[in-house]
Order: sequence, then C-alpha cells, then structure tokens
Amino acid sequence: MMRYLLCALSAVAAVQSLTTSQMENIKALLANLIDTANADNERPLVAATVRLAFHDCVGGCDGCVDFSHADNAGLQTVVGLLDAMYDDTSNGISALISRADFYALAGIVGVEVGASLQLRCGRNCVNPTPSVTFRYGRTDCNPATVAPRSFPSGIANLTKTLQFFASEFSFTSRETVALLGAHTLGEAHRENSGFRGRWVPRKDSFDNDYFVKLADGGGVSWSQTSLQRGTLYQWNGDDASGRGHMMLNSDMVLYRDISPNATTGQTLTCPTNVALCPYAATKDIVEEFAADNAGWMAEFSDVFEKMIEHGSTNLQLPA
Ligand code: HEM
Ligand SMILES: *[C@@H]1O[C@H](CO)[C@@H](O)[C@H](O)[C@H]1NC(C)=O
Ligand SMILES: *[C@@H]1O[C@H](CO)[C@@H](O)[C@H](O)[C@H]1NC(C)=O
Repeated sequence: MMRYLLCALSAVAAVQSLTTSQMENIKALLANLIDTANADNERPLVAATVRLAFHDCVGGCDGCVDFSHADNAGLQTVVGLLDAMYDDTSNGISALISRADFYALAGIVGVEVGASLQLRCGRNCVNPTPSVTFRYGRTDCNPATVAPRSFPSGIANLTKTLQFFASEFSFTSRETVALLGAHTLGEAHRENSGFRGRWVPRKDSFDNDYFVKLADGGGVSWSQTSLQRGTLYQWNGDDASGRGHMMLNSDMVLYRDISPNATTGQTLTCPTNVALCPYAATKDIVEEFAADNAGWMAEFSDVFEKMIEHGSTNLQLPA
C-alpha cells in the first residue's frame, strides 16, 4: 500500500517538470539506439519507431501495444528495445515522462534520423528537416482494461482509407495523404501482414520518394500481384533502373481509382497496368508532394505532431 502510494505520488510530481535539456538527453539516448546500422548498413528502427508511434496512437496514444492483435505483428522488436530503455530506472526516463510520451518521442527521433539520411539532394539544394514539436503528459494505459483497437486495412479503397483517418484522428484528406508518406520507410513482411517488399529501395531514408514512385512521373509501371492464393493483393512495379517497389491498395488509391474488391483487394479494371484506371480525387495532392519534398516535409511534420497528441489534453512543452 505504502509502496503503491509513493510510486503514484512521484509519478504525478515528475510529469510536471520536464526541462528542455532533460528532453534532449532522452532524445540523444533514442538517437543512439535508432541510428544503429545492421549488417546491411540499414537502420530498421527508423521505420519501426515511426510505425509504432502510429499504432500506439490509434485509439489514443497510451503506451500499450496489444500483441494479440494481428495488425501489430512486427512491432515486438522495437517495443522490446524501447521498453528495456524505459524500464531501466538508472537512466531516469521513467521518472520524467510516461511510456506513451516515450514512444511518441521515439517516433519524432525516428523521423529526424530518417530525414538526416536523405539522399535526394544534390550539391545545389539543402535537404529539408522535419519540425515536430514534442509535448509531454500522456497518460499510460492500464494493460488490464485496454480497449480493443482497429487499424486501417491495406486492401481498402480511398473512401474507406480517408474515413479511417477522418473518424479516428479528424484528419482531412490532405493531412491523410501527407501522413501516408511515412511509407517511404520500412517494408512489409509476409510473416507479419502477408504483404511483401519495400515501397522504395532505401528503407531508412525519409523523404517524399513514396509520392514520387506513386505518381506517373516516377516511372514505375505498376501491376497487381496476387498473394496467399488470391486472398490478398498488392501492387508491384519496377522503376526505370529495374529496382522493385510495392504499394498497398491503401497507398495506390491515393493516386488511382482502382475499385478493389472489399474482401480480397483484387482490382478487375486495371490489374496489369494501373495507368488504365482513372485518377483518384487525391491525385493532385500526391503530385504536389512528389514535386516538393520540403513542402511535404513541413505538412508531414504538422500532421505527425497531431497524430502523436491524439487522445491527450493539456500536454505541455518542456520548460
Ligand atoms: C491506410 C493506412 C495504413 C495501412 C493500411 C498501413 C499498413 C501497413 C502494413 C501492412 C505494413 C507492413 C507491416 C509488416 O508486414 O511488417 C506497414 C508498415 C509500415 N507502416 Fe503503415 N499503414 C498505414 C498507415 C501508416 C501510418 C499513418 C504510418 C506512420 C505515420 C505508417 C508507418 C509505417 C511504417 C514506417 C512501416 C514500416 C515498418 C517497418 O519496416 O518496420 N503506416 N503499414
Ligand atoms: C469479391 O471477392 C469475393 C471472393 O473472391 C467474391 O466472393 C465476391 O463476389 C467479390 N465481390 C464483388 C463485388 O465482386
Ligand atoms: C469502398 O469500400 C467499401 C467497403 O469496403 C464499400 O462499401 C464502398 O462502396 C466502396 N466505395 C467506393 C467508392 O468504391
């Protein structure tokens, strides 16, 4: 009883005073973890922290990831690494911010590390930097009473995809398109989602390449591929230099009206060449972001910041 009370009191007192330098110290620990390259010289935690920030915030950011939910498959590694850091009381993090705050901050650092690895800019331009403000004070879930969450479907049409983000986060179509640029990062794995492959070749470099590859100017010829014996579909395509790319329906629908079957995702109208289907209502937004990395990065930063504050009120800036 006494022990419980002390914990509760210290938690309440602590979250009232995070300083900027304390936040910078936590960010440095996170950057050190996320910027670690694997044997292929890639940083898989860039994508994983950004995906985790999204999944933790569906239903309200609360520091709880329900691994009995199939849509969270693949997040175990990043959650394990972040929890090990958060639960190590010697670094003081858990005395300062909630676990949900920590996951949100990890997402920000993932975006920042990924953006620092952009390859696009030649000698005549400067790569844009993201600007996502961190506020703290999120309340962690009680694992015993966590409500079931539902995630968007990768085979859905445009209406359903926009509806998910409108009803869950109150995002406009434009905000949703900007946010989905996150799929420049990472890859899909058969053992997690059933889908396979990377949206773009470099999975830890964060720029507008997703929009470039979606739009006609990206030079990818997209056709639909059947997975799991025709019960699931995605889009595959090679670019001019022969490198492979993929898109989920929920990505492709931002550019083309592919009218997928609601159960399987199959498209009957343009399966061998997506260019045979008409443009989608959000096509111009995709083209705008494809043409303007800096403009997209600014809008992505704004919507990502809103996403990681979903479900919280009275968050505070570090002093
Ligand atoms: C229509 C909405 C979305 C759908 C249907 C969707 C679906 C998926 C799927 C199926 C995967 C592959 C998982 C695997 O097999 O390992 C994935 C990965 C990923 N998603 Fe999304 N996603 C959506 C929105 C978002 C948003 C809003 C973000 C972040 C802002 C995001 C960030 C990521 C990242 C970074 C990965 C790669 C993870 C990794 O490689 O570790 N996604 N998503
Ligand atoms: C969608 O696919 C399922 C499974 O193949 C099929 O039973 C159903 O009739 C299809 N729906 C439409 C509208 O074609
Ligand atoms: C989108 O898919 C949903 C079901 O998943 C369906 O009810 C709706 O009619 C579809 N909308 C359009 C415009 O195709």
